[in-house]
Amino acid sequence: MYSHTPQCISAALLFSALALAPITVANERPVTIACGAVGDELEQCEASVRNWEQLTGHSVTIVPLPDESNLRLDFYQSIMSAGSPELDVFQLDVVWAGLLGHDLIDLRPYLTAEDPEFFGGLITNNTTANGELIALPWFIDTGLLYYRRDLLDKYNQPLPETWEDLERIASHIMAQEQRGLSGNKLWGYVWQGDSYEGLTCDALEWFYSYTGSSFVEVDMSVSILQPGNIEILQRAAGWIGTISPPETIAHKEEDARAVFQAGDAVFMRNWPYAWGTAQRPDSAIRGLIGMAPLPRGPNGVSAATLGGWQLGVSQHSQNRALAIELVRYLVSEQEQKRRALAAGYNPSIPALYNDPQLMAEYPQFADLVEIFQGGVPRPATITGRGYPLVSRAIQRQVHRTLTGEQDAETALRNLNAQLSRLSHWYGQQPVN
Ligand code: GLC
Repeated sequence: MYSHTPQCISAALLFSALALAPITVANERPVTIACGAVGDELEQCEASVRNWEQLTGHSVTIVPLPDESNLRLDFYQSIMSAGSPELDVFQLDVVWAGLLGHDLIDLRPYLTAEDPEFFGGLITNNTTANGELIALPWFIDTGLLYYRRDLLDKYNQPLPETWEDLERIASHIMAQEQRGLSGNKLWGYVWQGDSYEGLTCDALEWFYSYTGSSFVEVDMSVSILQPGNIEILQRAAGWIGTISPPETIAHKEEDARAVFQAGDAVFMRNWPYAWGTAQRPDSAIRGLIGMAPLPRGPNGVSAATLGGWQLGVSQHSQNRALAIELVRYLVSEQEQKRRALAAGYNPSIPALYNDPQLMAEYPQFADLVEIFQGGVPRPATITGRGYPLVSRAIQRQVHRTLTGEQDAETALRNLNAQLSRLSHWYGQQPVN
């Protein structure tokens, strides 16, 4: 009954595969859901879906998504612009609510007292200007610093408070402990430096911690060109090839995790999912790591980009009633608790952070809830349909500094000019 395409295929292939799928009458066809495959994402989606199938007797087809958020978006936009009914349930990045809202149904009329209370900020994020709730929060993400507790202890080093501390401690340990647990070179810090949505997230954390800038502010002013931002961007470029591997300029979440989980890095910036995978029996760092807030800037601010994924139902779905029921089940307290226990996915339901079983398994959840509540949003709601262009401009200019093609000041001057043009243009457009 349950079926899925086993390997992650490209958006173009996926689309053509879907276009060929036979169309049968509503209610006889399986509900179709798109699920990510980063870390344990796909396994956990499969487990939840299987539970729903057993409970209801209905069948579901899972379509695995590419890892990159940008590619997922391209895939969805091609499906939506064709008005295709082939996908009933979409897994949506927190930054797409203003972008894809028109193609998703309002879920508010279908919610009952049985549905959980979600983090208020996520509900606001998923509500359009005309009050439609176009997606329900599935899990919440924020950027975190992972560290090797064993190495900090061995060299009697504290947790880094600031970005300078991180550089110093990483270099100190690298100088003495040249090899990682795999026998390869030990690196100080791994993170996401490729030119994609993940770099926008990492860069927001640097800039916000230095100057409080989120690129484009709520009044549409552009706040990126500031001495503190130039300083931290230049500093980050200096990590490449020193405390961070040269390949960092092509690293996404899973690349950074591969180095860290092999035991070949002291620190890593990643999302909460990396905790669950690090505790697998075959993980070299099982039991050796901790999680902490990211380092602070000079004014004492630590910033964690707000991420996370939502579930929404297509306007073009021919399986609407079942799709809505599936979404309600997947985001339910019971399923979110199961996913959290099985793989460390962080619930979008505040009450679960007081759940005794979850707290016993993940004592760090108590600290995380504060970080989640303070997660810094990307300028997505404010720039609405313009957000993909805003984010691409950020990725491109920051990446050019990391690769040494231009200095940080030139990059931020260019970015300032590009964001000013975009915010002027999209400031005149309705947000949703
Ligand atoms: C994570 C976050 C998502 C973000 C993406 C960037 O999946 O949850 O919000 O856009 O990483 O790579």
